[in-house]
Amino acid sequence: KVINVILSGGVGSRLWPLSRKSRPKQYLPIFEGETLFQKTAKRNQSFCDEILVVGNADNYALSRKDLNEAGITAYSEIIEACPRNTAAAIAFAAFAAQKEDILFVTPSDHLISSDGEYSKALIRGIQLAKEGFIVTFGLKPTHPETGFGYIESDGEEVKSFREKPDLATAQAFLDSGNFFWNSGMFCFQAGVFLEELEQFEPEVYAKAKETFEKKKDGFLDLDFSLQIPSISVDYAVMERTKKIKVVPSSFNWTDMGSFEAIYEYYKAQNYPIDSHGNMVIGSDLTTEFVGLSHCILIMTADAVLVLNKDKAQDVKKVYERLEREK
Ligand code: GDD
Ligand code: MG
Repeated sequence: KVINVILSGGVGSRLWPLSRKSRPKQYLPIFEGETLFQKTAKRNQSFCDEILVVGNADNYALSRKDLNEAGITAYSEIIEACPRNTAAAIAFAAFAAQKEDILFVTPSDHLISSDGEYSKALIRGIQLAKEGFIVTFGLKPTHPETGFGYIESDGEEVKSFREKPDLATAQAFLDSGNFFWNSGMFCFQAGVFLEELEQFEPEVYAKAKETFEKKKDGFLDLDFSLQIPSISVDYAVMERTKKIKVVPSSFNWTDMGSFEAIYEYYKAQNYPIDSHGNMVIGSDLTTEFVGLSHCILIMTADAVLVLNKDKAQDVKKVYERLEREK
């Protein structure tokens, strides 16, 4: 059985004020009227036997609504009491599955075209997972992004996996030409993943197992959850496992993590932009930018953000400050 595990835990702090705790970015219907969560489920539906959503107490209603609207009924869910990062979130999914089930783990906040390239990569990934490998999907890097993982490879053989390098290292990886970006999607047998996790992060494994076993109606307990060390799967397993493979891929892929990505997406959709590259999101009011270029104005019912698109990563700091001041 192939299970699409959809991870839906992030708050999308770099997309404030569009993205809110009560409505994280993957649930915003701003991509041709659909949400990224919906697009994820629909894209993978034909390759997978069922969907397992690992979400949290704040967003499971949004996931259900999205799946319902997309007409998807074959899904189950694990509802976290608090985010404990992706190693634990994937472990929960693996505990819920049979050992030999194939988990195709995907983020819920990426924009990916579901074309022939996507299905080719996915079919190969599932094949390698059946052979016992832990499969990553590599994409050709275009800039020295420090928010991604990098995979050094020779064909499907992985020489090293390096999560979130600093800028100089990312640039060196890019220059060498032997590195892919890690897409953030993974494919493996549930049992294989758990063996690796137990070996590298025994405490994450043990505490996640305990938390999973104590769940009630799909809801995880807060006190047990808080015992689980918070570490991402990239550091916990991908940087260390010898069973890793990469499927070199060339589907269109965008991590919709920042306003720069949203800007580029809307630009490609011929969304209005003034002659200096300024864009308005969320408002039909006549808006003029004077002496500004490459700025984005984002308007919501209760907050306005104006930013230079080159500073899109810094929105996270604004979000964090506002959270502290609450
Ligand atoms: N259920 C659950 N619980 N989901 C979570 C949690 C959690 O505690 N934490 C994160 N997620 C979800 C996010 O919502 C997202 O869909 C996915 O897991 C990945 O988490 P991110 O926090 O967005 O990771 P990242 O973007 O920093 O890095 C990952 O993705 C990159 C590509 O976008 C890594 O895998 C990188 O190596 C990769 O390049
Ligand atoms: Mg991400």
